[in-house]
Amino acid sequence: MNGTTPTINTQIKETIAPKTTKTKTPRKPTVPELFIDGGSTRTKYYLQGISDSYQSIAREFPKGHELPLGVLGVFAMGDKSYAVGDSAESLGGGKIHEGYANDNKIKLLQVWIIGALTMHDSFLFKRMKKQKEGTINIDLKLSLLSLSSHRKKEIDKALKEITFTFDEREFKINITEYKLYPEGYGAACAAKKILKGMKSKDKRFHILDLGGGTLTHTPYSNLNGVPRASSQHSVSGAGVMAITEFFGKEATKGDTGGNIYHASRLKETLESSHMVDDQYKAEIDLGDDTKELGDRLYSGLQEWSREIIGVRELLRDIKQLIRKRERVFLTGGGFAIQTIRHFVLDYLDNSELVTVLDNPQDVNITGIKS
Ligand SMILES: Nc1ncnc2c1ncn2[C@@H]1O[C@H](COP(=O)(O)OP(=O)(O)OP(=O)(O)O)[C@@H](O)[C@H]1O
Ligand SMILES: [Mg+2]
Repeated sequence: MNGTTPTINTQIKETIAPKTTKTKTPRKPTVPELFIDGGSTRTKYYLQGISDSYQSIAREFPKGHELPLGVLGVFAMGDKSYAVGDSAESLGGGKIHEGYANDNKIKLLQVWIIGALTMHDSFLFKRMKKQKEGTINIDLKLSLLSLSSHRKKEIDKALKEITFTFDEREFKINITEYKLYPEGYGAACAAKKILKGMKSKDKRFHILDLGGGTLTHTPYSNLNGVPRASSQHSVSGAGVMAITEFFGKEATKGDTGGNIYHASRLKETLESSHMVDDQYKAEIDLGDDTKELGDRLYSGLQEWSREIIGVRELLRDIKQLIRKRERVFLTGGGFAIQTIRHFVLDYLDNSELVTVLDNPQDVNITGIKS
């Protein structure tokens, strides 16, 4: 401040704020907005300053099944009870609905929404404290990502009446409005911000999203206003789960020691894999031993990019776009994994036109607020 004290010019303040006889109207409380991206492996959400995610699994229990009270992600709806995320993993019994198989993304839409509300560590609790008895009515705006607008009728129906019981209290959610956004929309907002920062005149940019289940390329226009998606190209069965499988296949090749490579262990190994001086490092615990599988991971990634035709074509298209000097932004949880990031950047010739967005695992949702 160079030692100067900021002064407030009260004179000006008075002249521009003439006295008025209007009575103050109380400010309408703003309706909270829940952003939710139901991914095939993780359901991400943002509500009142908190962004979090839970595993996209739900366990359904029949009528009368006793469940622990006040546990995050555990609630009753109609005559059934549900547990989502970690709670679904840790509780036994009932029927498990995994990810978004069997059209669960839409069929269980209410469950994923209530799941997010009951996973939030303050949203419902604050209201329960304020209103000690009776049904708690909550107005809520909703922003849904990665749901096709072709299914609007079914979405409308699912959002009509949302009532549930959590920690022995009844809740009724009134959806005041909802919006549908394409997959990777938050990432597009974050990318647009970067382009603005570099005063780019690019008309178009691209989002490449590597999720748990799918690899998706979405071109966006960089014209004024919000980013607008044009056609989307999705390869399902090409995400981190597929990479884990290819890695697993490579890892077990030539192992005659009778080691068991559990899928969950392989996935953890992949998630914590990293680069050391251009070398792929992936350490797996097998019984009392640890085994370095970096080279196997590299060949697994090569297989993934070669064997799945959709991946091969999509990456080829991206290369072509880069040749045309168009920018590509990488997002999705897959790019939070250092080795995958390195592999794809290398595949795309380490072009300066490719940018990995910060926090690729949740920018798809947090970016909307940026
Ligand atoms: N911080 C992290 N470190 C390592 N890996 C991560 C991290 N966050 C996410 N991942 C990996 O990314 C995967 C999920 O990514 P993401 O949440 O983008 O997928 P999704 O949206 O559920 O799937 P899809 O977009 O295919 O429907 C996880 O299964 C995990 O393997
Ligand atoms: Mg996703």
